[in-house]
Amino acid sequence: MSNLLTTLHKLALQLTITPEQIGIIANKFQQAMQNGLAGQPSSLKMLPSYLNKPSRKETGTFLALDFGGTNVRVLLTELLGEGQFTVHARAGKPLKNDIEHYNHISKQSTANHLFDFIAQQIATLIKPDRIYPLGHTFSFPIHQIGLNAGALIHWTKEIETTGVVGKDITALLKAALVKQGLEHVVPQAIINDTVGTLLTSAYGNPFTDIGSICGTGHNTAYLEPCAPWTKEPMIINIESGNFDQLPFTAYDTLLDKQSEKPGEQRLEKMVSGHYIGELVRIIACSLFEDGLLASSGPTREILKTPYLLHGAPISLLLEDDSEESNAIACFLNDNLGILNSTIEDRQALKNIATLVTTRSARLVAATYIGILHHIDPNLTQNHTIAIDGSLYEKTPGYADTIQMTLDEGLATTSEVTTTLTKDGSGIGAAIATAIAVL
Ligand code: GLC
Repeated sequence: MSNLLTTLHKLALQLTITPEQIGIIANKFQQAMQNGLAGQPSSLKMLPSYLNKPSRKETGTFLALDFGGTNVRVLLTELLGEGQFTVHARAGKPLKNDIEHYNHISKQSTANHLFDFIAQQIATLIKPDRIYPLGHTFSFPIHQIGLNAGALIHWTKEIETTGVVGKDITALLKAALVKQGLEHVVPQAIINDTVGTLLTSAYGNPFTDIGSICGTGHNTAYLEPCAPWTKEPMIINIESGNFDQLPFTAYDTLLDKQSEKPGEQRLEKMVSGHYIGELVRIIACSLFEDGLLASSGPTREILKTPYLLHGAPISLLLEDDSEESNAIACFLNDNLGILNSTIEDRQALKNIATLVTTRSARLVAATYIGILHHIDPNLTQNHTIAIDGSLYEKTPGYADTIQMTLDEGLATTSEVTTTLTKDGSGIGAAIATAIAVL
């Protein structure tokens, strides 16, 4: 076997999550959920949402504000009942734009800059002569004390805007709305995007009791049958991206060390879109340094640039089934500075991308198994897991791998399925507002 093949074989052993490991991770996840709920030390925050599932009868027109860390979006949404809705108008902008010279998510930006910018986006969509109840999807860990109040615990997804941590997000939004003369926009609810995804799917499907995001970030919410705070059913935002009882490789450790917040969001750093490209780059770089990759053609130092593959279409590597792997050759040339790659280089890269994304899907599925065992120990019910995010929607084989891992790890005859719930964070905010005001 060539040195490259031997190394790829070793890599496969390190990155493959075996059925036995799935069981172990699921059990540890379930235990961490229980510890978090009981207020004992746990990597899982288990944050209350103060929401139950929708009745599916909610109707009315609401403003939905969606702040996830990349864009701010505003949707004027009409809920029609039983899973039906219409979006009447949309507005939105990225949170940073190099051409327009602004960046509201860097250390240099403040809470005032950020929330003034958000209020400006809302202003583009509304008329002066009516009241707009607003729901806010804020996709970060917040400590909620009610449906409409919550303080940011800390930023995730490498956001650094100052003056927001510890502050009540609804209060910051209200102050910015007043500054813009938008007192007729009335915030009524604040939710996590995972909660929004669960609400949106459950608005049409009574079996939905888990909502998850597999995109730039990763996190899951579920319907807790008996929440410790109220002893009633309540949707809980697990903040599962912070789970840390996992089989880390040296590549994961390196990525974590070089990240904004070492030690935090360890699951997210192994599975989510923000980090997967970086993992592929780190692994490719180590093969390159060992003279195993791109050894015959010219290369550029660019391969050593952190987050070089951020936002790059890793799925392109997985999609290319052509004999010469031409699309991968272009990818290597354009994104990694590997000119004149050989077929072996291209296949190696595809192999690495497949290993990393398959591991992501299997780890995510293991956490779903942990949640299912917690809410339905004998698995007597049907369950739908609502998922949004580009990784789940667009990565070839990702959704199938999650489903296969669930089927493999769950001994049940009841149906456990996953479903794509697009726009869950936007529509979910409207549903939460309806629940708040009706
Ligand atoms: C990060 C955030 C979490 C959010 C997820 C998906 O993990 O901490 O709140 O749900 O990204 O956007």
